[in-house]
Amino acid sequence: MTLDRRIHDDSSEPADRFRPPGPSLRAGRHRRAGRAAGRDTALAILRQAVRAGVNHIDTAHFYGEANGLIRDALAPYPGDLVLATKVGADRDAGGKLIPAQRPDELRAQVDANLAALGVEQVGVVNLRRVDAPPGIVAAGEQRVDLDDQLAELAALRDADKIGGIGLSNVSAGQLAQALPAGIACVQNLYNMLDRTAESVLEACRHHGVAWVPFFPLGSGMTGRPKVSDNPAVLAIAAELGVTAGQVALAWLLASYDETLLIPGTSSAAHLAENLAAGDVTLPESAIATLDRLAPDVPRKESQP
Ligand SMILES: NC(=O)c1ccc[n+]([C@@H]2O[C@H](COP(=O)([O-])OP(=O)(O)OC[C@H]3O[C@@H](n4cnc5c(N)ncnc54)[C@H](OP(=O)(O)O)[C@@H]3O)[C@@H](O)[C@H]2O)c1
Repeated sequence: MTLDRRIHDDSSEPADRFRPPGPSLRAGRHRRAGRAAGRDTALAILRQAVRAGVNHIDTAHFYGEANGLIRDALAPYPGDLVLATKVGADRDAGGKLIPAQRPDELRAQVDANLAALGVEQVGVVNLRRVDAPPGIVAAGEQRVDLDDQLAELAALRDADKIGGIGLSNVSAGQLAQALPAGIACVQNLYNMLDRTAESVLEACRHHGVAWVPFFPLGSGMTGRPKVSDNPAVLAIAAELGVTAGQVALAWLLASYDETLLIPGTSSAAHLAENLAAGDVTLPESAIATLDRLAPDVPRKESQP
């Protein structure tokens, strides 16, 4: 099973730190901890994932109990396990998600992640920008210059608290601006039904940056289109004898070799199914059909 070996290849300069040591074998399989499963279920799924070869887990301190669950389930961590977290948001006293974009806030969140995960270094820290939806949007003093944030994260990387810097919810222009800092990956909303971030994927391809599409299945949130509800996806799945989720994940894997998947699940059966998506090969005709599903596939910059 092939997960994110690039993240442990730290033998070169920061900008190249995440190159895989050899040809990329398909893509990563990640999962998120802390969904609304019971504690025992969450711990069991985390252990199942790592036993099955998952070596990249996506989390965030602002997810609440996720980091503690990961630590309880998996510490002492396997040497090849990459924990990828996010900074850029926090919870207020009432538990509401709020922007926390200032450099000092980013540093505090990195420290909070390190403490909760029980590690001295987090493999990847994704800077979650909040310039535009989905989710919270920055205003006032929370509209922080990207270069100032990257300088803080680079200092944390120099201090070995961060293995690599990633970006989340960014535009292609912001990725270009950030590249000199050494960017390991980009995590944006992207799936076969929502390709608003197509230009960012293109920029990742162009620069060889790893692509981590969030909401790969359409998310668990109400109001967002789910791949498993889409008739065309269901028809292709039935024809191939696989599930709609596997079709969606296989389509993402086929779209770019440096794709790392982070489908979230609270179900052991879904986890097994999602892992098996790596073995699904979509015929060209199916890919062509799936390529036409998203209503709008902008090729030009669409975010600030
Ligand atoms: N950077 C960001 O701003 C950002 C924002 C949101 C999310 N994320 C990250 O993106 C990742 C995925 O997000 P997500 O979990 O919300 O969305 P998702 O992976 O697109 O969808 C998860 C939903 O799909 C269901 N599901 C999973 N596997 C399935 C299967 N095989 N068959 C049918 N349904 C299945 C899950 O339900 P079950 O629990 O029943 O399986 C859940 O309802 C997470 O790691 C998260 O950390 C990042």
